[in-house]
Amino acid sequence: MPPSAPRIKSPQRLIAESGADLEGHGLKRTMGLFQLVCFGIGAIVGTGIFVGLSDSVAEAGPAVVVSFVLAAITCVFTAFSFAELGSAIPVSGSSYSFAYASLGERVAFLVGWCLLLEYGVSVSAVAVGWSQYLNELLDSLVGWQLPAALSAGPADGGVVNLPAVVVILLAATLLVRGVRESARATAAMAVLKIAILVIFCAVGFSAFRDGNLSPFAGHGVAGITAGASVAFFSYIGFDAITTAGEEVRNPRRTIPLAILICIGVATLLYGAVALSAIGALGGDAVAGKPAALSLVVDQVTGSAVGGGIIAFGAVVAIASVVLAVMYGQTRILMSMSRDGLVPGVFERVSPKSATPVANTWIVAAVFAVPAAFSSLDAVVGLTTIGTLAIMAVVNIAVMVLRRRDPELPRSFRVPLYPLSPVLGVGFCCYLIWGTGWTTWVQFAVFLAVGALVYALYGRRNSRLGQEEAVGAGSGPAAPPLTRTGDGAAVAARPGG
Ligand code: ALA
Repeated sequence: MPPSAPRIKSPQRLIAESGADLEGHGLKRTMGLFQLVCFGIGAIVGTGIFVGLSDSVAEAGPAVVVSFVLAAITCVFTAFSFAELGSAIPVSGSSYSFAYASLGERVAFLVGWCLLLEYGVSVSAVAVGWSQYLNELLDSLVGWQLPAALSAGPADGGVVNLPAVVVILLAATLLVRGVRESARATAAMAVLKIAILVIFCAVGFSAFRDGNLSPFAGHGVAGITAGASVAFFSYIGFDAITTAGEEVRNPRRTIPLAILICIGVATLLYGAVALSAIGALGGDAVAGKPAALSLVVDQVTGSAVGGGIIAFGAVVAIASVVLAVMYGQTRILMSMSRDGLVPGVFERVSPKSATPVANTWIVAAVFAVPAAFSSLDAVVGLTTIGTLAIMAVVNIAVMVLRRRDPELPRSFRVPLYPLSPVLGVGFCCYLIWGTGWTTWVQFAVFLAVGALVYALYGRRNSRLGQEEAVGAGSGPAAPPLTRTGDGAAVAARPGG
């Protein structure tokens, strides 16, 4: 293989490795469709709608409803691509594994690097949002809030956001004990979130006034675009469904269905919440306000009780997002670690709890820092652009894999191929445009650092690379380890 050719890991090999490697034994396939949908809702519905809504309204005004639809369309095209890849390669690495199987190791590393934004930095963002509603809940329960100095970062007029740090540490404690949420708790949490948002809509629509929706698009197309980029954050997480690929029964059918159901439910909920909130109070009253949904309910009902109930729902709902997203981050780092692209500490599993303890604590410690000191806007922008970049790559990966591996079994195929993935890439670029130049610059620096880390560490320590080197030295032994190699035959890895 020429040195410049991409190192590609075949889908067959990814699947074969996943059966025997993660956590030292094959994960049990116990999740069905309902559980997977609950897991998806658990990862999706959180800070984006409970907190971020007020920011997207500030950008787009009442036309935020259009922004939500645009963000949803981006997700649907991309979800088709995730669904096809998830049905063809049902392993836990999600977009990272998909990129490895199609575009090669370098792109896969950068996707994994961007996943640090989608999962890691978003843990920080979600935790910051949690802190706002915790204060709201305390206010309605005991009439007291944590002082701003201890509940907001310097950019938001505070010193340190302690609740955001605490929720991350709590999630880490549960994860190292193996409490990823029991199936029952996941389902209860998903139902609770949906119920709270439905109650919110009922309250909001009871005070709905047409006049509050005009001017509908006062900030024009630019406002709608920027609003869509902010609204997109509230859909992030649907791809976490593919990180559970190794624990799902009949994954080739269940994963695509679960993804599409989750996006559909989220879109209906978000559109209704946005319409009812603005219809009740008007865009200006909602724009930029912390804990905006509680505020709407308080004002409509004229009492703090309703807002307290919403705040309680938000505190529970957002905490479950922290747990689900952090779980996804640790599993992606495990996948990268078993490929040799990040240090071995990330794949080490405690024999006692059968969980990646060191991995989890490192993730918690690293992402508690932005949670403690950043503003929500800064972390949401980076999370959003990183996720959109990954999604563009996933749409491209579908097209590459169709050409390279046309015979790979796919129980789900994107409709209107190749229009759907092409439109997926187009919409991702459109929303990236809407994030604004400050975020582009931050992201460019982040990517450049990622490329450097790959050149200095990942490329040299890659297990696939080491196997290629061994194969090149021993002549005929090389072929099984290249892209065309059969997974079952090559699952053993050097140094593993
Ligand atoms: N979509 C997730 C949330 O809104 C990240 O909290």
